[in-house]
Amino acid sequence: MRKLIVAGNWKMNKTLDEAVALVSEVVNMINDEVTGNVDVVLCPPSVYLSVLKQYIPAGGRISLGAQNCHEKASGAYTGEISAPMLQSLSVPYVILGHSERRQYFNETNEQLAAKVNIALENGLTPIFCCGESLDLRENGDYVGFVKDQLTASLFHLSAEQFANVVIAYEPIWAIGTGLTASSAQAQDMHFELRQHIAGQYGDEVAQNTTILYGGSANAANAAELFAQPDVDGGLIGGASLKSRDFTTVVKARQ
Ligand code: G3P
Repeated sequence: MRKLIVAGNWKMNKTLDEAVALVSEVVNMINDEVTGNVDVVLCPPSVYLSVLKQYIPAGGRISLGAQNCHEKASGAYTGEISAPMLQSLSVPYVILGHSERRQYFNETNEQLAAKVNIALENGLTPIFCCGESLDLRENGDYVGFVKDQLTASLFHLSAEQFANVVIAYEPIWAIGTGLTASSAQAQDMHFELRQHIAGQYGDEVAQNTTILYGGSANAANAAELFAQPDVDGGLIGGASLKSRDFTTVVKARQ
């Protein structure tokens, strides 16, 4: 079943008091205003996950997610967090392969395949990020590049395993720039990715795969983006840091 999801990637933002205030506002707004079929995932800095759990109603539409996890289960990896740690916290989602981690921490497709594996082994739902640079968008085979990111990091999975993965297409040139992909650009890539998935796993798995759009999605453009047939929701950065804006995006998806 294709889930409709709006996830908020807070990145490295908010003090503890600010994080508690934001999650409290978002929970109240969504509980009061959202009635439709949409799941919400809040991805704060991992240092806050165990605290913020207390503010999220159990069994509701809102879940927590981490922004990353290591590809090993444990060991001498100072500063890292593991999939078993997230599983022990009952945090169900984890963003993997965000372009900022690929850029700043040199994460490779092969490393991400290992991260996807250990996340699935620990019962987590990976939100697997992919997307092209501006240079590739303007001068190269950007569709082939993004397809290859899925092939290299996900297509070793069985169909049953893949069914637990959420895809997030985030054109790097749209992240944090205010330069949102047009709804047509988003739809075109999402369609291509769904076709690529169908080629590997068949139509049923492809049609049931949730593909999110990320990259300057916000309260003003979410409705048009989400009206596209292959855009199943969003992975929201800046706009997730403001409770009213984020709730407006969620309402646009329901
Ligand atoms: O992971 C979501 C993020 O990369 C998008 O950021 O600020 O462009 O919505 P933003």
